[in-house]
Amino acid sequence: MSSAHYDDVLSGTRSLLERIAADFSPAVFASSLAAEDMVITDLILRAKLPITIFTLETGRLHAETVGMIDRIRETYAYEVVLYKPEAAAVASYVAANGLNAFYDNIEMRKECCRIRKVEPLKRALTGKQAWITGQRRAQSTTRSELAMQEHDAAHGLQKFNPLADWSEDDVWHYIRSHQVPYNPLHEKGYPSIGCEPCTRAIEPGEDIRAGRWWWESPDSKECGLHVVDGKLIRIQPAPTEISTS
Ligand code: ADX
Ligand code: SF4
Repeated sequence: MSSAHYDDVLSGTRSLLERIAADFSPAVFASSLAAEDMVITDLILRAKLPITIFTLETGRLHAETVGMIDRIRETYAYEVVLYKPEAAAVASYVAANGLNAFYDNIEMRKECCRIRKVEPLKRALTGKQAWITGQRRAQSTTRSELAMQEHDAAHGLQKFNPLADWSEDDVWHYIRSHQVPYNPLHEKGYPSIGCEPCTRAIEPGEDIRAGRWWWESPDSKECGLHVVDGKLIRIQPAPTEISTS
Protein backbone atom coordinates (compact mmCIF):
# COMPACT_ATOMS: atom_id res chain seq x y z
CA MET A 1 0.00 0.00 0.00
CA SER A 2 1.54 3.34 -1.03
CA SER A 3 0.96 6.20 1.33
CA ALA A 4 0.05 8.54 -1.57
CA HIS A 5 -2.62 6.08 -2.73
CA TYR A 6 -4.00 5.76 0.81
CA ASP A 7 -4.07 9.54 1.40
CA ASP A 8 -5.81 9.96 -1.92
CA VAL A 9 -8.56 7.40 -1.39
CA LEU A 10 -9.16 8.56 2.18
CA SER A 11 -9.44 12.18 1.19
CA GLY A 12 -11.73 11.30 -1.73
CA THR A 13 -13.95 9.23 0.53
CA ARG A 14 -14.26 11.98 3.14
CA SER A 15 -15.20 14.49 0.45
CA LEU A 16 -17.72 12.14 -1.11
CA LEU A 17 -19.44 11.43 2.22
CA GLU A 18 -19.69 15.18 2.89
CA ARG A 19 -21.18 15.74 -0.55
CA ILE A 20 -23.73 12.94 -0.07
CA ALA A 21 -24.79 14.37 3.30
CA ALA A 22 -25.14 17.88 1.82
CA ASP A 23 -26.74 17.10 -1.53
CA PHE A 24 -28.71 13.88 -1.06
CA SER A 25 -30.57 14.26 2.21
CA PRO A 26 -31.99 12.01 3.55
CA ALA A 27 -29.12 9.60 2.90
CA VAL A 28 -28.54 6.27 4.61
CA PHE A 29 -25.63 3.89 4.99
CA ALA A 30 -26.20 0.11 4.84
CA SER A 31 -23.79 -1.50 7.28
CA SER A 32 -23.17 -5.24 7.40
CA LEU A 33 -20.99 -4.45 10.47
CA ALA A 34 -17.93 -5.95 8.72
CA ALA A 35 -14.54 -4.17 8.41
CA GLU A 36 -15.27 -1.97 5.37
CA ASP A 37 -18.52 -0.82 6.92
CA MET A 38 -16.80 0.03 10.19
CA VAL A 39 -14.48 2.36 8.24
CA ILE A 40 -17.47 4.20 6.78
CA THR A 41 -19.24 4.19 10.16
CA ASP A 42 -16.18 5.79 11.75
CA LEU A 43 -15.91 8.41 8.99
CA ILE A 44 -19.61 9.31 9.25
CA LEU A 45 -19.75 9.45 13.04
CA ARG A 46 -16.45 11.29 13.58
CA ALA A 47 -17.49 13.96 11.11
CA LYS A 48 -21.02 13.99 12.61
CA LEU A 49 -22.55 13.70 9.15
CA PRO A 50 -26.36 13.51 9.03
CA ILE A 51 -26.40 10.03 7.45
CA THR A 52 -28.44 7.30 9.16
CA ILE A 53 -26.64 3.98 9.61
CA PHE A 54 -28.77 0.85 9.38
CA THR A 55 -28.23 -2.91 9.41
CA LEU A 56 -30.37 -5.62 7.89
CA GLU A 57 -30.69 -7.88 10.92
CA THR A 58 -31.54 -11.09 9.07
CA GLY A 59 -32.05 -13.21 12.18
CA ARG A 60 -29.18 -15.47 11.00
CA LEU A 61 -26.16 -13.25 11.79
CA HIS A 62 -23.27 -14.48 13.95
CA ALA A 63 -23.38 -13.44 17.62
CA GLU A 64 -20.08 -11.62 16.99
CA THR A 65 -21.69 -9.56 14.22
CA VAL A 66 -24.74 -8.66 16.31
CA GLY A 67 -22.27 -7.78 19.09
CA MET A 68 -20.91 -4.98 16.89
CA ILE A 69 -24.16 -3.07 17.43
CA ASP A 70 -23.21 -2.81 21.13
CA ARG A 71 -19.60 -1.93 20.25
CA ILE A 72 -20.83 0.96 18.08
CA ARG A 73 -23.10 2.18 20.88
CA GLU A 74 -20.22 2.02 23.40
CA THR A 75 -17.67 3.66 21.08
CA TYR A 76 -19.72 6.35 19.38
CA ALA A 77 -22.91 6.61 21.49
CA TYR A 78 -24.81 5.80 18.28
CA GLU A 79 -27.73 3.44 17.90
CA VAL A 80 -27.65 1.55 14.59
CA VAL A 81 -31.15 1.28 13.08
CA LEU A 82 -32.21 -2.34 12.54
CA TYR A 83 -34.44 -3.63 9.75
CA LYS A 84 -35.73 -7.15 10.31
CA PRO A 85 -37.53 -9.52 7.95
CA GLU A 86 -41.31 -9.85 8.04
CA ALA A 87 -41.98 -12.56 10.63
CA ALA A 88 -44.84 -14.07 8.58
CA ALA A 89 -42.65 -14.43 5.45
CA VAL A 90 -39.87 -16.13 7.44
CA ALA A 91 -42.36 -18.46 9.13
CA SER A 92 -43.97 -19.46 5.85
CA TYR A 93 -40.58 -20.11 4.13
CA VAL A 94 -39.40 -22.22 7.06
CA ALA A 95 -42.70 -24.13 7.30
CA ALA A 96 -42.69 -24.93 3.57
CA ASN A 97 -38.97 -25.57 3.03
CA GLY A 98 -37.20 -26.00 6.36
CA LEU A 99 -34.87 -23.64 8.23
CA ASN A 100 -31.80 -24.25 6.04
CA ALA A 101 -33.35 -24.82 2.60
CA PHE A 102 -30.89 -22.31 1.10
CA TYR A 103 -28.36 -25.15 0.81
CA ASP A 104 -30.67 -27.05 -1.57
CA ASN A 105 -30.44 -24.86 -4.67
CA ILE A 106 -29.86 -21.26 -5.83
CA GLU A 107 -33.59 -20.51 -6.05
CA MET A 108 -34.12 -21.44 -2.38
CA ARG A 109 -31.03 -19.44 -1.44
CA LYS A 110 -32.21 -16.36 -3.32
CA GLU A 111 -35.68 -16.63 -1.82
CA CYS A 112 -34.21 -16.70 1.69
CA CYS A 113 -32.05 -13.65 0.83
CA ARG A 114 -35.10 -11.96 -0.66
CA ILE A 115 -37.10 -12.41 2.54
CA ARG A 116 -34.30 -11.68 5.00
CA LYS A 117 -32.35 -8.97 3.12
CA VAL A 118 -33.88 -7.66 -0.10
CA GLU A 119 -37.38 -6.87 1.20
CA PRO A 120 -36.10 -5.23 4.42
CA LEU A 121 -33.63 -3.21 2.29
CA LYS A 122 -36.53 -1.93 0.22
CA ARG A 123 -38.19 -0.68 3.41
CA ALA A 124 -34.93 0.89 4.59
CA LEU A 125 -34.54 2.83 1.32
CA THR A 126 -38.12 4.08 1.03
CA GLY A 127 -38.23 7.88 0.98
CA LYS A 128 -34.41 8.25 0.80
CA GLN A 129 -32.39 10.22 -1.79
CA ALA A 130 -29.25 8.08 -1.60
CA TRP A 131 -27.77 5.02 -0.01
CA ILE A 132 -24.18 4.12 0.70
CA THR A 133 -22.50 0.72 0.72
CA GLY A 134 -19.06 -0.57 1.70
CA GLN A 135 -18.47 -2.56 -1.50
CA ARG A 136 -14.98 -2.59 -3.03
CA ARG A 137 -13.96 -3.49 -6.57
CA ALA A 138 -11.26 -5.87 -5.42
CA GLN A 139 -13.74 -7.97 -3.44
CA SER A 140 -15.06 -10.12 -6.26
CA THR A 141 -15.34 -10.78 -9.98
CA THR A 142 -18.88 -9.39 -9.88
CA ARG A 143 -17.60 -6.08 -8.43
CA SER A 144 -14.66 -5.40 -10.74
CA GLU A 145 -16.62 -2.69 -12.62
CA LEU A 146 -18.14 -1.18 -9.49
CA ALA A 147 -19.00 2.51 -9.87
CA MET A 148 -18.32 5.07 -7.14
CA GLN A 149 -21.75 6.57 -7.88
CA GLU A 150 -24.59 4.91 -9.74
CA HIS A 151 -28.30 5.28 -10.22
CA ASP A 152 -30.12 2.50 -8.43
CA ALA A 153 -33.07 2.05 -10.77
CA ALA A 154 -34.48 -0.82 -8.72
CA HIS A 155 -34.96 1.44 -5.68
CA GLY A 156 -35.19 4.78 -7.50
CA LEU A 157 -32.33 6.65 -5.79
CA GLN A 158 -28.59 7.31 -6.00
CA LYS A 159 -26.22 4.67 -4.72
CA PHE A 160 -22.67 5.39 -3.58
CA ASN A 161 -19.77 2.99 -3.05
CA PRO A 162 -17.18 5.30 -1.48
CA LEU A 163 -14.67 2.49 -0.85
CA ALA A 164 -14.74 1.27 -4.46
CA ASP A 165 -11.04 2.11 -4.89
CA TRP A 166 -9.88 0.91 -1.47
CA SER A 167 -7.69 -2.17 -1.07
CA GLU A 168 -8.05 -4.58 1.83
CA ASP A 169 -4.79 -3.12 3.22
CA ASP A 170 -6.25 0.39 3.06
CA VAL A 171 -9.24 -0.79 5.09
CA TRP A 172 -7.08 -2.36 7.80
CA HIS A 173 -4.69 0.58 7.84
CA TYR A 174 -7.62 2.90 8.56
CA ILE A 175 -9.02 0.58 11.24
CA ARG A 176 -5.70 0.24 13.07
CA SER A 177 -4.71 3.89 12.84
CA HIS A 178 -8.10 5.16 14.09
CA GLN A 179 -8.71 2.38 16.68
CA VAL A 180 -11.97 1.46 14.98
CA PRO A 181 -13.78 -1.48 16.63
CA TYR A 182 -14.12 -4.48 14.33
CA ASN A 183 -15.83 -7.85 14.20
CA PRO A 184 -13.62 -10.45 15.98
CA LEU A 185 -14.48 -12.98 13.25
CA HIS A 186 -12.04 -11.14 10.97
CA GLU A 187 -9.23 -12.56 13.11
CA LYS A 188 -10.63 -16.08 12.84
CA GLY A 189 -10.36 -16.50 9.07
CA TYR A 190 -13.43 -14.51 7.99
CA PRO A 191 -12.41 -11.64 5.66
CA SER A 192 -16.01 -11.45 4.37
CA ILE A 193 -18.95 -11.92 6.73
CA GLY A 194 -22.60 -12.53 5.93
CA CYS A 195 -25.18 -14.74 7.62
CA GLU A 196 -23.78 -17.44 9.90
CA PRO A 197 -25.00 -20.53 7.99
CA CYS A 198 -23.84 -19.07 4.65
CA THR A 199 -20.33 -17.97 5.68
CA ARG A 200 -17.34 -20.13 6.53
CA ALA A 201 -13.75 -19.32 7.44
CA ILE A 202 -11.25 -19.43 4.56
CA GLU A 203 -7.82 -21.02 4.32
CA PRO A 204 -4.71 -18.88 3.71
CA GLY A 205 -4.45 -18.11 -0.01
CA GLU A 206 -8.16 -18.60 -0.74
CA ASP A 207 -10.18 -15.84 -2.41
CA ILE A 208 -11.55 -13.40 0.19
CA ARG A 209 -15.15 -14.27 -0.74
CA ALA A 210 -14.52 -18.02 -0.94
CA GLY A 211 -16.28 -18.47 2.40
CA ARG A 212 -19.52 -16.80 1.25
CA TRP A 213 -22.13 -19.24 -0.17
CA TRP A 214 -19.14 -21.52 -0.71
CA TRP A 215 -21.23 -24.20 -2.38
CA GLU A 216 -22.18 -21.83 -5.26
CA SER A 217 -20.14 -20.65 -8.27
CA PRO A 218 -18.27 -17.31 -7.83
CA ASP A 219 -20.52 -15.54 -10.32
CA SER A 220 -23.71 -16.18 -8.34
CA LYS A 221 -22.36 -15.01 -4.98
CA GLU A 222 -24.51 -11.92 -4.57
CA CYS A 223 -27.56 -11.77 -2.33
CA GLY A 224 -29.69 -9.42 -4.44
CA LEU A 225 -28.88 -6.23 -2.50
CA HIS A 226 -26.68 -4.87 -5.29
CA VAL A 227 -27.97 -4.45 -8.84
CA VAL A 228 -25.39 -2.91 -11.17
CA ASP A 229 -26.75 -0.53 -13.78
CA GLY A 230 -24.63 2.62 -13.50
CA LYS A 231 -21.48 4.05 -15.01
CA LEU A 232 -18.27 4.78 -13.17
CA ILE A 233 -18.05 8.33 -11.88
CA ARG A 234 -14.68 9.17 -10.35
CA ILE A 235 -14.97 11.53 -7.40
CA GLN A 236 -12.01 13.89 -7.05
CA PRO A 237 -10.80 14.83 -3.57
CA ALA A 238 -12.01 18.29 -2.50
CA PRO A 239 -9.34 20.89 -1.72
CA THR A 240 -10.08 20.83 2.01
CA GLU A 241 -10.21 17.86 4.36
CA ILE A 242 -12.10 17.31 7.58
CA SER A 243 -9.80 16.89 10.56
CA THR A 244 -10.22 13.57 12.36
CA SER A 245 -8.08 14.47 15.32
S1 ADX B 1 -23.35 -9.34 -0.04
O1 ADX B 1 -24.18 -8.80 -1.12
O2 ADX B 1 -22.34 -10.30 -0.51
O3 ADX B 1 -24.09 -9.79 1.13
P1 ADX B 1 -21.25 -7.98 1.30
O4 ADX B 1 -21.34 -8.79 2.56
O5 ADX B 1 -20.04 -8.14 0.45
O6 ADX B 1 -22.56 -8.11 0.41
O7 ADX B 1 -21.45 -6.48 1.67
C1 ADX B 1 -21.41 -5.47 0.68
C2 ADX B 1 -22.19 -4.29 1.17
O8 ADX B 1 -23.58 -4.62 1.21
C3 ADX B 1 -21.84 -3.88 2.58
O9 ADX B 1 -20.73 -3.04 2.61
C4 ADX B 1 -23.12 -3.19 3.01
O10 ADX B 1 -23.16 -1.88 2.50
C5 ADX B 1 -24.19 -4.01 2.33
N1 ADX B 1 -24.68 -5.09 3.22
C6 ADX B 1 -24.41 -6.40 3.16
N2 ADX B 1 -25.02 -7.07 4.14
C7 ADX B 1 -25.71 -6.14 4.86
C8 ADX B 1 -26.54 -6.17 6.02
N3 ADX B 1 -26.81 -7.31 6.65
N4 ADX B 1 -27.06 -5.02 6.46
C9 ADX B 1 -26.81 -3.84 5.82
N5 ADX B 1 -26.04 -3.75 4.73
C10 ADX B 1 -25.49 -4.88 4.26
FE1 SF4 C 1 -30.67 -16.66 4.09
FE2 SF4 C 1 -28.08 -17.31 3.82
FE3 SF4 C 1 -29.18 -15.28 2.40
FE4 SF4 C 1 -28.77 -15.07 5.05
S1 SF4 C 1 -27.21 -15.25 3.43
S2 SF4 C 1 -30.57 -14.43 3.97
S3 SF4 C 1 -29.27 -17.16 5.75
S4 SF4 C 1 -29.64 -17.48 2.26
